Amino acid sequence: MKIVTIVGARPQFIKAAAISQAIQKLNKTKRRIQEILVHTGQHYDTMMDKVFFEELKVPKPDYHLGVGSGSHAKQTGKMLGRIEMVLEKVRPEMVIVYGDTNSTLAGALAAAKLKIPVAHVEAGLRSYNPAMAEEINRLLTDHLSTLLFCPTDQAVRNLLKEGIREDSKRIVKNVGDVMYDSMLYYSKIAEKRSTILKHLGFDTRHETRDTSYYLATLHRAENTDDPKRLKSICRALNKIGEETPIIFPLHPRTKKMIKVYHLFSEFKNIKFVEPVSYLDMLKLEKNAKAILTDSGGIQKEAYWLKVPCFTLRNETEWLETVKSGWNVLVGVSTEGIIKEVNHVEGRRRYLRGNKVFGDGKASQKIVQILINHSGSFNER
Ligand code: UD1
Ligand code: UDP
Repeated sequence: MKIVTIVGARPQFIKAAAISQAIQKLNKTKRRIQEILVHTGQHYDTMMDKVFFEELKVPKPDYHLGVGSGSHAKQTGKMLGRIEMVLEKVRPEMVIVYGDTNSTLAGALAAAKLKIPVAHVEAGLRSYNPAMAEEINRLLTDHLSTLLFCPTDQAVRNLLKEGIREDSKRIVKNVGDVMYDSMLYYSKIAEKRSTILKHLGFDTRHETRDTSYYLATLHRAENTDDPKRLKSICRALNKIGEETPIIFPLHPRTKKMIKVYHLFSEFKNIKFVEPVSYLDMLKLEKNAKAILTDSGGIQKEAYWLKVPCFTLRNETEWLETVKSGWNVLVGVSTEGIIKEVNHVEGRRRYLRGNKVFGDGKASQKIVQILINHSGSFNER
């Protein structure tokens, strides 16, 4: 069975690594999947790209489309044309796309127009905020897909509300979250191998979670590209940083905007660092007192690693983490963020967790479904 995997942005390298690993495992048996990896080039800095391929042993891309940054239409348009050329040449039985980036939508649209079935990993997520580029991408991708691999029951229900259900033409399944698979596998390795804490001057032998540091990340366009929101969030982080260190691995989009608004010199209590590798990130997350973020993936990792999370948004696709008490939507007001973070001690006693994201075998399940239905997709 020949499939094309389309990736382009940081979280997609992590998700695709889990599936690639499951494919390699399967290929040791008689049933085989030939995976052809297409990298759109949406992310290209070493610490946003290459580091993940090396660390997670993702196969080298067979095609690198070198699209780079640009406005949504320009970036997605370039991807569409270049993906179409690859698909016409390779003629795979199926195309796999991940998450909700422009690379996801371009991959799904190019494949669907060529009548190649699309498998969407992380299907059914909704923020119900139509202003988010990601909401547009995931909505359209789901409606173009033949195989919809949902990470939660909620995601299946979200699809049902839009009339997408399993039938003779479509497979819709809650298989669990492939990022959970990755986190389970790599967090143990990270604990042993990552030296990031030492590198940043923290000695975990003497620190406890309560005395160590907060971890922050930010990259959503609505937070970074609006100077009022960006400053409001940074002011809160800077205030919190007066008492407890704040480590902030900077996404390039955020770094650019902080430079544009000359904020580096204003917020001296925030320890800004370059983006870190996945193993270093897991180590930083696990040992943090709490995490402040607007990232989708990091909200879930905080939940899985049992670290309190404050989400710097007004809504989330990952409602399960909020319902369970691990995650609080704190919005972007300076006072609101500080107030919630000050209550972290009290809140932690009430934290509850459960296994709503599957059993850590999502990738295996996905690969098995692909194999079981091999040959039947094009007839649908
Ligand atoms: C993209 C996704 C977002 C995802 C995020 C993961 C879309 C619309 N957004 O957002 O859903 O959560 O990736 O990190 O697809 N840049 C660099 N170097 C890089 C990559 C980006 O300097 O390697 C800078 C460029 O100035 C670029 C900006 O970051 O214009 C934004 O990059 P882009 O890929 O458009 O969106 P992200 O914010 O990364
Ligand atoms: N991540 C990382 N290094 C960083 C920041 C994030 O390895 O400096 C990982 C993080 O652990 C998670 C994923 O990248 O697995 C989340 O990606 P991101 O926040 O860019 O995108 P989102 O999940 O919001 O789409």
